[in-house]
Parts: sequence; structure tokens; C-alpha cells
Amino acid sequence: MIKKGIILAGGMGTRMGPITKAVNKQLLPLHDKPLIFYPLSILMLSGIKNILIIVNKGHLNQFRKIIPEKNNLGLKIEYKEQSRPGGLPEAFIIGKKFINKDSVALILGDNFFYGQSLTNILKKNINFQKGAKIFLHPVKNPQNYGVAYVRKKKVVKLKEKPKKTNSNLAVTGLYLFDNRVMEFTKKLRPSNRGELEIIDLLNIYRKKNLLNAELIGRGGAWLDAGNIKDYYSASSFISAIENRQGFKIACPEEIALKNNWIKKDNIKKSIKFYGNCEYSKYLKTLLK
Ligand code: G1P
Repeated sequence: MIKKGIILAGGMGTRMGPITKAVNKQLLPLHDKPLIFYPLSILMLSGIKNILIIVNKGHLNQFRKIIPEKNNLGLKIEYKEQSRPGGLPEAFIIGKKFINKDSVALILGDNFFYGQSLTNILKKNINFQKGAKIFLHPVKNPQNYGVAYVRKKKVVKLKEKPKKTNSNLAVTGLYLFDNRVMEFTKKLRPSNRGELEIIDLLNIYRKKNLLNAELIGRGGAWLDAGNIKDYYSASSFISAIENRQGFKIACPEEIALKNNWIKKDNIKKSIKFYGNCEYSKYLKTLLK
């Protein structure tokens, strides 16, 4: 059972300049809440309470304002700074003390997941014991992502942003690893783009027959907010669903309450914390 999760919320967000020059991308609004609420909610929906958030050097105070270590969400939050983006596996070097001897989930700060079956998929997979697990989703533009080639339900090849590919299965930004990740990360060397690559790490697991993949099919949604166009598509998607249903997607307080991690008193504290806004109005409906 995985009890620890890392949100990698570093990066300079250069593809979204100039709006990311002064503010970290993960703190920008995705529809009606900061982007980081979405991956945070995914970890919480999986049952993970113990969370390390890795941020850029200099951005720590911005994050602490919205997700303080002493929070009303029943979470144990820790922060670590990254001096320069060195690739996703760097999360395991920075998070060495946090991970210690345990298994860990890694989620990218700009990834958005949605779907009715998602919570079940997450809860089922979080119980895993051995190896690494990835979540695949069909996309129209696989060349922008890590791509998995699957044969007979087995991942037979993984490639980072292949120019040409006959597989439409992107490797999404949610990964589960057993503690061997610490040992395997040490074997990695920077790629041509000067970073440690998650695909290289996953390939080590794959070659040892320790990699499993789960499909998030077309009934689910995986969007990333890596560039302006995708960012606005994700925002419109959330806005359309929230406006129609009246429920909020990725409300950490609501998830914490449903998980029995907090009491209604904590919700009241959150309402005070956020002040008079739409989000607080929604929190009030949870008190009924
Ligand atoms: C990273 C990974 C890639 C993965 C993607 C998911 O890409 O390297 O394998 O598919 O995240 O968002 P990057 O955002 O660093 O280009």
C-alpha cells in the first residue's frame, strides 16, 4: 500500500511565459482554483495523506500561502526546493529522506485527471506491492509525451517524445514506484536535453519485468496544462462540468471530509482562510 506521494511542482513554466515569469505555473488558476489543487486531489482520492511538494527555489513562500504545512486538510505536507529543473526522477533524489524505505507515488504538478472510474482505478492500484506502475491514456498527439507500445497487455517499449509513432498511448504524469526507485535512479544519466528522464527509469523497471501499466480509457480524461492552449482547454473542460453539475472538481476539503480525515470544524476554518469567495460558498454547502 502506497502511503506517500510527491507532487513535482517545479519547472520554470517557460512555455507559458510571460505569465509564469513571476508566478509559479502550478499556482495559476485552472478555472476556479490553483492548478496544484488538481494533482493534490488525485493523491488524496488515492488515500495518500503524506505529501512532499517539490517547488522551484524562490517559490516556496507562494506555495505555503495556499497549502500551508499546518493545513485544514488532514494532510502531512512537506516542502523541498529544487534549484534547477533536472528532470522528473530528480524528485527521488530530492525526496530521499521523505521516501526513506517506502513506496511512493509521483504526480506532476500540471497534470489533470478526471473520470467516474478514476477513484476505483487509483484505490485498486495504490495497493500494489512490487515494481512500478504507469497510467496510459490515448491521445491525438502522442509525439508530445512519453509513449508506450503495448502488446498483449504488456508494455514492450517506451519512448520519450518519438517524432513518429504508431502508438497513441501517452504515459501520463502519475507514477507508482516501489522503493527500488532509489537504487534505479542512481543509474540514470542526463539525456540530450540535459535532464534525467522518467522514461529511462521506467525502462529499467520494464527490462526487469517489473513494469505494469493501467489504461485510463476514453471514458476518462487526462489533460495537461503545459502550454497556453492545453491550459485553456483544461479550464473550459472544468468550467463546463462544474457549471452543469454544481459540484466542484478537485476540492481538497470535500475529499478530506469524505475520507474522514477532517471534521466540519476544519471546513469552517477553511472558509475563514479563503474569505468571501465562490469557493467558500461551495465549502458552506458541505456543512449541511
Ligand atoms: C513529462 C515526461 C513524459 C510524460 C509527460 C506527462 O514530459 O517526460 O514522459 O508523458 O511528462 O505530462 P515533459 O512535461 O517533461 O515534457
